[in-house]
Amino acid sequence: MVDLYGYLILFLVSFISIRFILIQSFSSSFRCKFRLPPSPFALPVIGHLHLLAPIPHQALHKLSTQYGSVFRFFLGSVPCVAVSSPEMAKEFLKTYEASYLDRPRNSSTVYLTYGSKDFMFAPYGSYWKLMKKLVMSELLNGKTLDLLLPVRHDEINQLVKSLSKKAKLGKPMDLKGELLKLTNNMISRMLMSKRCSEVESEADDIRKLVTEISEITGTFNLADYIWFCKNLDLQGIGKRVKGIHRQFDVLVEKIIKEHEDERRKKDTDETKDVLDMLLNISEDDTMEMKLTRDNIKAFLLNLFVAGTDTSALTIEWSLAELINHPEIMKKAVEEIDRVVGNTRLLEESDIPNLPYLQAIVKETLRLHPTAPMIPRTSTEDCIVGGYHIPAETTVFVNVWALGRDPKSWDDPLLFSPERFEKNQVDVRGQHFQMLPFGSGRRMCPGTSLAMQVAQVTLGVMVQCFEWRVGEEGRVDMKEGPGITLPRANPLVCVPVVRFDLDSVIPVTSM
Ligand code: HEM
Repeated sequence: MVDLYGYLILFLVSFISIRFILIQSFSSSFRCKFRLPPSPFALPVIGHLHLLAPIPHQALHKLSTQYGSVFRFFLGSVPCVAVSSPEMAKEFLKTYEASYLDRPRNSSTVYLTYGSKDFMFAPYGSYWKLMKKLVMSELLNGKTLDLLLPVRHDEINQLVKSLSKKAKLGKPMDLKGELLKLTNNMISRMLMSKRCSEVESEADDIRKLVTEISEITGTFNLADYIWFCKNLDLQGIGKRVKGIHRQFDVLVEKIIKEHEDERRKKDTDETKDVLDMLLNISEDDTMEMKLTRDNIKAFLLNLFVAGTDTSALTIEWSLAELINHPEIMKKAVEEIDRVVGNTRLLEESDIPNLPYLQAIVKETLRLHPTAPMIPRTSTEDCIVGGYHIPAETTVFVNVWALGRDPKSWDDPLLFSPERFEKNQVDVRGQHFQMLPFGSGRRMCPGTSLAMQVAQVTLGVMVQCFEWRVGEEGRVDMKEGPGITLPRANPLVCVPVVRFDLDSVIPVTSM
């Protein structure tokens, strides 16, 4: 028996080594013929997985300084390419956009999205186009965003109210929870006319779910990349994903049923929010494409995950930078005091008159893009930047690296909003040295909403409060693991009110 076991191990080792040697030699002869991008030395079975820990975008950035702005690597046996310069990002996302319009999927995203029934990971095709049309015409276009302004305004009031309560206590608080509550409530009210935090325990559940989903979908799951781990769930990710999915499904089913009951009672298909609109479409037999219940739930999940954590983290990083740069904080406060004063709360309509505040948010997105990598998959072979990129290669455009590119930015690691006073670089996918929302047809449809929310929330927080942190007066800026650039350590601080807030927050919100 022991002998048999020994033979088995020997067989496995030889099999893996031969496979590895074949792959390496095949790829070098293939490389001569087709000029593949350079690549670090790969290990058998795991490829380059060992080089990507603990934070993949940072590791890929470091490797790019050695292997260049386009290099190849393997996640187990999955071929990937990392792109780290603005010129190359433009080639992939603009010049050859048509070949890179799909996204890679992994077992977690497939399971969470009801078996890929969603919008974010849908292949570029008729279903994606239908959903994109809906998103842009009904949900995230300028007119709807204007209509929903009172919802955002009310949620900002609620935030100020909650922070001023914390200020009265004078105790340190973790800001992330408050910010996630804000963005969750905003998205939830837009989508389903329902605040997440009506029932506090339910709100906590949703916040935890969103954070967990961001963390888990950002973890490389060995089951996706190493063939013999496929059914092994060695990291316990599969089990966690099933739990998260179950929890989300219970929550969202409850909300859909409430909507359906209300529609039945009123005997109407009146559209008061996005969920109503989706239910209308799903009941419409004349539609060329039928929306199923799973499509609706997966779409709602997309918007929650894509729109809440990213926005909350952007505000958290920007306040952390201001705390660490008192001179920039002072300049921001002076601008707000001059333009808005302290007899009313800053509003979205003030933003065009607050260029320094706008520059602070842009500078935050340059150094702390809360979607640090744009993942796409090639649908056909093509030559990009002189390199042969085969079909079905996963491409990661490293947005985090673009914002630190020394050829594009003076003193790239310095937090300096002033740099945007001189240049006209914006965030809408036209300037490839800064792509916090991606670029082209699959660019983020929530860009305008995200920018409005980040700017107005940061503005109000700086207008109404001073922010005190421990004795050193600084916070650390380490990043933690996850798909959305979370902080390694929470931003814990004490808000101190700057003026009498009771007189500026409407009574309805207090
Ligand atoms: C600071 C906040 C945000 C950041 C940094 C961000 C960033 C991104 C990025 C980089 C992409 C991929 C773009 C590409 O492939 O070129 C994306 C896609 C997406 N984002 Fe955002 N986003 C934010 C907020 C939002 C909001 C508020 C929503 C909606 C409520 C949203 C909804 C989406 C959706 C649905 C997609 C998928 C689009 C598609 O695949 O066609 N995002 N986002």
